Amino acid sequence: MSVKRIGVLTSGGDAPGMNACVRSVVRTALYRGIECYGIRRGWNGLISGDVVKLDEKNVGHIINRGGTILYTARSEEFMTEKGQKKAVSTCRFLGLDGIVAIGGDGTFRGAQALSRYGVSVVGIPGTIDNDISCTNYCIGFDTAANTAIECIDKLRDTMQSHERCSVVEVMGRNAGYLAMYVGLATGATAVLVPEEEIDFDRDVIEKIRQARFNGFTHYMIVVAEGAGSAAEIARRIKEEIDLDPRVTVLGHIQRGGAPTARDRVNATKMGYFAVELLNAGKSNRIVCTREGTITDVDIEEGLAMKKSIQQTEVDVLAAMTGI
Ligand code: F6P
Repeated sequence: MSVKRIGVLTSGGDAPGMNACVRSVVRTALYRGIECYGIRRGWNGLISGDVVKLDEKNVGHIINRGGTILYTARSEEFMTEKGQKKAVSTCRFLGLDGIVAIGGDGTFRGAQALSRYGVSVVGIPGTIDNDISCTNYCIGFDTAANTAIECIDKLRDTMQSHERCSVVEVMGRNAGYLAMYVGLATGATAVLVPEEEIDFDRDVIEKIRQARFNGFTHYMIVVAEGAGSAAEIARRIKEEIDLDPRVTVLGHIQRGGAPTARDRVNATKMGYFAVELLNAGKSNRIVCTREGTITDVDIEEGLAMKKSIQQTEVDVLAAMTGI
């Protein structure tokens, strides 16, 4: 069956580079003679038929823009059988031969459900958490990391002047990839991630103590939100060693901003690859990067894979922080 018309949507937490990816999907589709519709507000848009026709012009000059022109949402209705059936009806009514869904694992679970009803779906990983197991890289991670690094570098200036301790919370409800990467890049005194069991004395207090023995008088503790609240960690530091830490929660700042070159280029390649998959009659696939090349994996297989913080990163951090 030849593919004549497809839809593209962004779902879950937004990530810088999603627009670049939408642009690439649209332009690749048109290049292959396929019409492309933007489905707005994630899976909710597929349920309600909230669609807009996309062409070369209306995806012009978005490669550099953060956020998503298609809006995004986390759809509870789509998690139900009723919601999924409504979405399938929309696909049939509009004559969509395939859907490209950009987002995280919640998005892919939706894609998988839809493909069980015979709709062709390809997922593209887009989340600043970088926590999709089947891919080394998720769109948005590099931009978010650079945003957090820029903020922490600024914080360090004032922490150094005042000889203070700082506890910075970065995003990552269930994943510490961002925190670990940012911690390595900013020379953090300690990094706390949800994947590693935390011994407060060993992982925080002793690291601060060691830094002090090494001659430092300011300390930067980076914590992923899923590993504990920065306020609580600061309270415990005060209680145990009588420092008076300042707390910074970087929050949603990390999800915005112009995407970096890495995110723009990865997003563009992944968007192209997704349309090529649909055009070749493939479905139920996730586009992923492995060892520098773009490839794809079955959604079920991809979601079943496990990812953990690289041991090398843990070892390097230990060497950098002296214990
Ligand atoms: O996009 C992933 C993520 O940034 C998580 O790290 C974070 O916990 C969550 O989204 C917050 O999402 P929201 O506040 O948009 O619901």
